[in-house]
Amino acid sequence: MATARGGSGAYERAYDRDRLRRFLSGEAVGEGISRRGVLRLLGAASATGAVASLPGLAVAGPAAAAEAPSRPDPPDRPGIVKPLPTELFTIRGTNAETNWAALRGTGYHTPIDRFFVRNHTATPVLDPARWRLTVWGSGLRGGPVEFSYADLRALPAVTTSVCLECAGNGRSYYTTQQGDAVTGTPWTMGAVGAARWRGARLSDVLRLAGLSARAVDVMPRGLDAAFVTGGTDHGRVRRPMPVEKALDDVLLAYEMNGRPLAPDHGRPVRLVVPSWAGIASVKWVGDVEVSDRPLFSPWNTVFYRLFGPGHPAGGSAPLTSQPVRSAFELAPGARFAAGRGHHLTGRSWSGQGGIRRVEVSTDGGAAWRPARLHDAPRPGGWVRWSADWRPRGTGPAQLLARATDTAGNTQPVRSVPNEQGYSFDAVVRHAVEVV
Ligand code: MTE
Repeated sequence: MATARGGSGAYERAYDRDRLRRFLSGEAVGEGISRRGVLRLLGAASATGAVASLPGLAVAGPAAAAEAPSRPDPPDRPGIVKPLPTELFTIRGTNAETNWAALRGTGYHTPIDRFFVRNHTATPVLDPARWRLTVWGSGLRGGPVEFSYADLRALPAVTTSVCLECAGNGRSYYTTQQGDAVTGTPWTMGAVGAARWRGARLSDVLRLAGLSARAVDVMPRGLDAAFVTGGTDHGRVRRPMPVEKALDDVLLAYEMNGRPLAPDHGRPVRLVVPSWAGIASVKWVGDVEVSDRPLFSPWNTVFYRLFGPGHPAGGSAPLTSQPVRSAFELAPGARFAAGRGHHLTGRSWSGQGGIRRVEVSTDGGAAWRPARLHDAPRPGGWVRWSADWRPRGTGPAQLLARATDTAGNTQPVRSVPNEQGYSFDAVVRHAVEVV
């Protein structure tokens, strides 16, 4: 069987076809999946009426297939606990985007005071002493089995440095740079951060809970409030992953950058699923279902797939590893003095390998030159880079950075759009002003 590690597209696509077949035959559990979403996924099957007879299918209104539409920012603060000063964050609905200019000079790991927050609802404040993790389901030999915070802390600890990134990072550029209409939070490039995560291996916990050889899917679920959008209650945030990935490199993390997790980042315990879209890294995890049948949730059916022209009929496989992306550590519209030397800095990352090359253009993409890389390529991590620039004439200019990862993926000029605006990987044209 192909591995679920890193760039696992082929594995995930084959697995996904199997899931859908089993779903159709009534084998899979599909609580909380919208009717329209399933119809879209199953394409031709819907025409035969096969879907209407699926057991346990929640019927949702037409808005359910789209991610939460962009909302105007609430007048007061979103449900986030940490301070959100405007020099560090841009508030977007219930979320806080890191301002890239605030990363300049911060070192490899993103300080917690400026790490982005992506909340479907609001941060719950949980007491580690009263918290319990319940592992349950048909994929265990017995169970359910409960773990306390102290139980997890007593297991062998693993520390890993990886980027966490929202699949919708860069979404706004589909519209501002390509003219494509998409739904969802209009992130620029600040829904990403790198941290040093420490925790117990999910594989250790699953084995202690009595993982059976029949297990196929593992679904962690958060303790935050149910996600309601477009009149549909999707239940609490949960997303299945194949047991192969769960046993590979996934952590039940309780520390971030050497400190106990902050409430907004999952205190007391969250998943960290290296290289995969941030939605897999469920925060405030309260239970993990282990199943001998494929599992479905809105987060691997109606959300976090690519829909639209240019994608498979019925949508892509659920998103797993993240594409290549780059950003300058600069504010939009930053000003530079003409005739003076400037030191440009930025970072590039990929969920499909380390970064091996970054090129920079300071003339809107006509000429390119290599940037200096300040970190070794490492899967799951990012690379800091720099380039010098002495602009001559005054006026508007565009700075571009283009990265290539060790798997050979280079950022394209244009991203293939999808309705919910995921996976934007094109080179961003960063507008600045020379004065
Ligand atoms: N887990 C729960 N329980 N609830 C959430 O809203 N958001 C997910 C993921 N885990 C989410 C969650 C998404 S979409 C992302 S990108 C990451 O958490 C963001 O993690 P952060 O807020 O610590 O940066």
